[in-house]
Amino acid sequence: MALTRQTGKLFIHKFAYFTFEVVLYDSWAWMQKLARPIFHSQFPNYKVLCLIFCFKKTCVSVLQTMLSFVEILCGTAAKGEMIIQRVVLNSRPGKNGVPVAENFRLEESTIADAIQAGQVRVRTLYLSVDPYMRCRMNEDTGSDYLLPWQLSEVADGGGIGVVEESKHDSFAKGDFVMSFNWPWQTVAILDGSLLQKLIPQLVNGRLSYFLGAAGITGLTALLGIKEKGHVAVGANQTMVVSGAAGACGSLAGQIGRLEGCSRVVGIAGTDEKCSILVQEMGFDAAINYKKGNVAEQLREFCPGGVDVYFDNVGGDISDTVISQMNQNSHIILCGQISQYNKDVPYPPPLSPDIEKIRKERNITRERFLVLNYMDKQEASVLQLCQWIQEGKLKVRTFSPWPLIRSPQVMV
Ligand SMILES: NC(=O)c1ccc[n+]([C@@H]2O[C@H](COP(=O)([O-])OP(=O)(O)OC[C@H]3O[C@@H](n4cnc5c(N)ncnc54)[C@H](OP(=O)(O)O)[C@@H]3O)[C@@H](O)[C@H]2O)c1
Repeated sequence: MALTRQTGKLFIHKFAYFTFEVVLYDSWAWMQKLARPIFHSQFPNYKVLCLIFCFKKTCVSVLQTMLSFVEILCGTAAKGEMIIQRVVLNSRPGKNGVPVAENFRLEESTIADAIQAGQVRVRTLYLSVDPYMRCRMNEDTGSDYLLPWQLSEVADGGGIGVVEESKHDSFAKGDFVMSFNWPWQTVAILDGSLLQKLIPQLVNGRLSYFLGAAGITGLTALLGIKEKGHVAVGANQTMVVSGAAGACGSLAGQIGRLEGCSRVVGIAGTDEKCSILVQEMGFDAAINYKKGNVAEQLREFCPGGVDVYFDNVGGDISDTVISQMNQNSHIILCGQISQYNKDVPYPPPLSPDIEKIRKERNITRERFLVLNYMDKQEASVLQLCQWIQEGKLKVRTFSPWPLIRSPQVMV
């Protein structure tokens, strides 16, 4: 590959760095000689330490020189551009298809290395991979508020990063920022007006929480319960949560309890998840829907019936729960994940039998969309952060994954 001016500059830079390393190494060698009598008496093991230090220095230098040559051979950036990695939509799974990792493609691309007024260059730290993205893989998302991802174009969603360069008054280098439309790429140039500045202290330094418990997920759980749950302190209500071990579900159960429910029961897909819900998250009981009879276990764990149902999944599980709901009870229609690989409208209508039960018992089932309550975002995030700081809201942490794994996490 031709040696461009950019890669030439890089080579000079790397060469200068290598020279600096050698000088540093030499200085260290000289310093050893001069300081030896002093150090020797103080630190009997100092020879070993020196050896380790020198060995590491040499390895680093050799590696960096090798990297310089690799970058020169592989680098394709033209003058004024920077090479980045990004994940693009490669193909669509079809409305009724199950997504596979091959629906995405990791590729190298370039961005300008200079930014314009009002722009910010950010390095990606965290990306959120969420169920609603399944709809964005379709040509028609079925929702007026969700745009489809375009073929061969970068995917996007909730993301957090650090500012590397700013030409926007509200941001400075080193600030942590987030956006709901963060591109799945290593470095990006974003419009500063679309970014929110983050205060890491609010979440004890755990920045990724702003995409989870102190972000849209936490808001969905909290506002869903407040707006559609009709939960009241002292009303002795029983709440059931499906998809309970997921991001929204695990928070919804805990928030249901904090808001006043006297009993909280979760439904999840493995014994391990059920055990975490009860042992760590304070659920009273959890049902593994892949094992045993869900209806029987629900009757056992909810002897007074169900007053509030936080529905993340829809389908058979929801039919079973609704059958055991009390008169004048409430469904929080958060999501219907079991239906997302099917070509059905949202929200999917209930079967005639279940709809009859719902009507007879006056059970509310209103559509809930967190984006409709963004005027309550600020106060609600502060409430969530306070619960996190007080240890009242337990959050399962996840490790950040390399960009290349986003498609696997998605499917
Ligand atoms: N209304 C809103 O504004 C809003 C906002 C955000 C999210 N949501 C919705 O909230 C729901 C949960 O989102 P999330 O971010 O918590 O997702 P998540 O972390 O991926 O959790 C989803 C959970 O659903 C369970 N699940 C998946 N497929 C299932 C199936 N076929 N049957 C039963 N359970 C299934 C999985 O648990 P198991 O392994 O236990 O099956 C998983 O833990 C989704 O439906 C999403 O669309 C709605």
